[in-house]
Amino acid sequence: MALIAILPGDGIGPEVTTEARRVLERLGLDLSFEEAPVGGAAYHAAGHPLPPATLDLARRADAILFGAVGDPTCDSLDRHLRPEQAILGLRKALTLFANLRPAKMFAGMEDASALRPEVARAIDLVIVRELNGDVYFGEKGMRTTADGLRQGYDVMSYDEAEVRRIAVAGFEAARRRRGKLCSIDKANVLETSQLWRDVVIETAADYADVTLTHMYVDNAAMQLVRDPGQFDVIVTGNLFGDILSDQASMCVGSIGLLPSAALDVAGKGLYEPIHGSAPDIAGQGKANPCAAILSAAMMLRHSLGEPAAADRIEAAVAAALASGKRTADLGGTCSTREMGDAVLAAL
Ligand code: NAI
Ligand code: MG
Repeated sequence: MALIAILPGDGIGPEVTTEARRVLERLGLDLSFEEAPVGGAAYHAAGHPLPPATLDLARRADAILFGAVGDPTCDSLDRHLRPEQAILGLRKALTLFANLRPAKMFAGMEDASALRPEVARAIDLVIVRELNGDVYFGEKGMRTTADGLRQGYDVMSYDEAEVRRIAVAGFEAARRRRGKLCSIDKANVLETSQLWRDVVIETAADYADVTLTHMYVDNAAMQLVRDPGQFDVIVTGNLFGDILSDQASMCVGSIGLLPSAALDVAGKGLYEPIHGSAPDIAGQGKANPCAAILSAAMMLRHSLGEPAAADRIEAAVAAALASGKRTADLGGTCSTREMGDAVLAAL
């Protein structure tokens, strides 16, 4: 029996993970669930955003379903006690280096996109973002220049092993989809990107069935808005991926529709909606649970070896949306529970 850790977290996290769990339970698979506090909820209960018992559960589990962390009552705490440290701590402790963020247009949802409907309709892409390296984890600090000026610095670096494992994740994702991989870098200027490009090209030797292209990140930002339908799988570093994946999400429409996975080399993963704890609507039953439900589908596909069940959930979400059920973020009147009910009914 597979053990699933449920870490609901703060704000709307518990509301949306409850719906995702109901959907998982309805499938009739051999799953067990164990829940633990994380983020602000854990700070209030145990004095730390990622208590040892929660980390232990995350390590023991076959997969993790995460809600969101972020609690305005914790704003004045030291950085290491802030709720957001919990998600960074989990990614690092479990070496979750591959962040998969699919962005797909659901039929009939084009009106929610920031793009023209005919452009938005073609969006069906996955961004594979590296999550454990790059400028976020390089040497950083503040110093004073010879002229007495304050100077901040953050070193961008990747070693070839780090690039190779994310390149493999990108090629594998492309192989499962339409067989197109676009590697995004800034190789015209950055040494880090030159190594990135070299290693991606070396890795391509094992994936003759995948068509590899390269794009500079500034052009990629433009192309994502101009013609997002050209992309199948994008693989990129931590910083570029952070920015491009938020941009891609807005091309689809509501943040309440977009799931994500963070995977280790063995395929164990943490699955979460890309949105945060949304304190402005927390506790009001307004949150869109689709992103969390679709995250559960990704879990079935990538960590639990149940691709057919994942397909069923994705089809059920699409059917519920196509039937006109919408939460407020999509201009509808459904509550979180009613949206969950609609997905269960479609299932
Ligand atoms: P947010 O994603 O929580 O909210 C942004 C806007 O989108 C808000 O207006 C919110 O009401 C709306 N929204 C988000 N999810 C929604 C859903 N499922 N249904 C309907 N509307 C939804 O981002 P924000 O406001 O920048 O951050 C709030 C807190 O969440 C902060 O403490 C932040 O640090 C944290 N955060 C946590 C993340 C995580 O746990 N992985 C990711 C992003 C932010
Ligand atoms: Mg971001």
